Amino acid sequence: MRRKVVTRPRFTNRIVLLLFASAIALLATYLFWSFSGEVKALLEHRMGSSPSPSADTIIKAIKLLLVGIVGYFLVRALNALFFGLAFWLKKIDAPTLIRNIFTIVAFTIFFLVAFTFLFPDVNLGALFTTSAIFGVILGLALQDTLGNFFAGISLQADRPFQVGDVITVGAQRHTGVVEEISWRAIKIRTFSNHIVLIANSNAAKEPIEVCPRDNLNARLVFFNTLYTDSPAKAIHVAREAVREADNVSDKVTPIVRIRNLGDNGVDYEVKYWPVDYAKYNDTDALIRQRIWYAFRRAGLNFAFPTRTLYLERNQGGEKRDGGAIAERLSAVDIFAPLSADETTMLAQAAVRHVFAPGEMVIRAGDPGSSMFVVHNGRVSVQISENGRPRNIATLNEGDFFGEMALFTGEPRTANVVALEETEVLEIGHAAMKRVFDTNPDLVESLSFIMAERRQGLASQADSDTASPHSTAGILSSIKRFFGL
Ligand code: CMP
Repeated sequence: MRRKVVTRPRFTNRIVLLLFASAIALLATYLFWSFSGEVKALLEHRMGSSPSPSADTIIKAIKLLLVGIVGYFLVRALNALFFGLAFWLKKIDAPTLIRNIFTIVAFTIFFLVAFTFLFPDVNLGALFTTSAIFGVILGLALQDTLGNFFAGISLQADRPFQVGDVITVGAQRHTGVVEEISWRAIKIRTFSNHIVLIANSNAAKEPIEVCPRDNLNARLVFFNTLYTDSPAKAIHVAREAVREADNVSDKVTPIVRIRNLGDNGVDYEVKYWPVDYAKYNDTDALIRQRIWYAFRRAGLNFAFPTRTLYLERNQGGEKRDGGAIAERLSAVDIFAPLSADETTMLAQAAVRHVFAPGEMVIRAGDPGSSMFVVHNGRVSVQISENGRPRNIATLNEGDFFGEMALFTGEPRTANVVALEETEVLEIGHAAMKRVFDTNPDLVESLSFIMAERRQGLASQADSDTASPHSTAGILSSIKRFFGL
């Protein structure tokens, strides 16, 4: 829906029109005034009495009516002139309610003056103050009207929202763009292009949710994925898809986060900030559409009610996709001397684990009886410096870590943290022993790397987790530990 642009009829046209109407009314009044003597004589003739007090009253009442009409047009012209000038010169757009109050007050004053002039014998003050019944009737009749009127005034004074803002009012949650705030009601245009009028007195009692026009108001859109789909990937793909959508503000990056681990899948929410909040329905729909296409390209899947029965054989990790694992292990330099069968054996023994960005794979000081090969992603080897983590090495796909504790039986020397979503292959003590039994040379090449890494650790200022050892020292401790 297009947001309605609030325009005023051209200021000069309005004034000319109203002045023209006032002139005609004035002419009619003048003519009646000039011929009032004749009309009165005619009336007296018809009534058969001369002079007749009733004929006199009728003439005065008609005069009052005509003067009232003149007054009405004059007050409207004055209103248009006054507020039109304010809008034209200072760009101040006075609310409808203020205009109406001006009209009512000015007209009442004009009318009372005209009344006292035409009916000098009638004491208006006494009429109003002594007439208790009149007061009661007026009070009862105007109860709602006055309630709305004063609620409207307080809305104008508070200015909790303005024309053009999107508001949601009350228990029925009427939502739409504010088009007008009059002395009686707030007029909103819903997103189905319906007009809803909410009486000011009701609005004053109800909670109102306001989304101001010149404010970045956030929206939430929900989606889900299968449990087998990686959250880091889903979040990245969805965020990029949302960023590209029309009407999504580029001032704030959309947020995609896990909302719940649901019955059927992982539930996510997208928080984004529309440029034009009034178009949020279209934008929400566009975002859902973009996520669908982006998921399709990325091989991600939405979850729907399913019951999946898993028969899990291995414990604590995944072992599928042996071919890819063997391929990865054969590309690791220390395993290069292994035969194809030995690599396959190692791949079968390896257990896959996935770590989220920022998750710790290894904690310094823990005991450890396995080593890891980075299958996908990156990890950071960190030591503590003045209580803060400090990166000493970044390991990529095909690199290995955790060998020090595995081969020497000592505690872990450093923290290893996933820098992005990272998949590692864990190889345990038993599998390595089998490899060493058939490839004793492997121990030597490993001890070189370990000596180098120990050197790196020892050179860090407050690292006391490792002391440099010679290659020969490491070699003999590996052999001792593995009983080679
Ligand atoms: P481990 O001591 O079992 O656990 C921490 C691991 O961090 C360690 O084995 C090594 O694999 C790795 N590591 C320690 N120092 C370095 C370094 N300087 N360069 C690369 N990796 C290292």
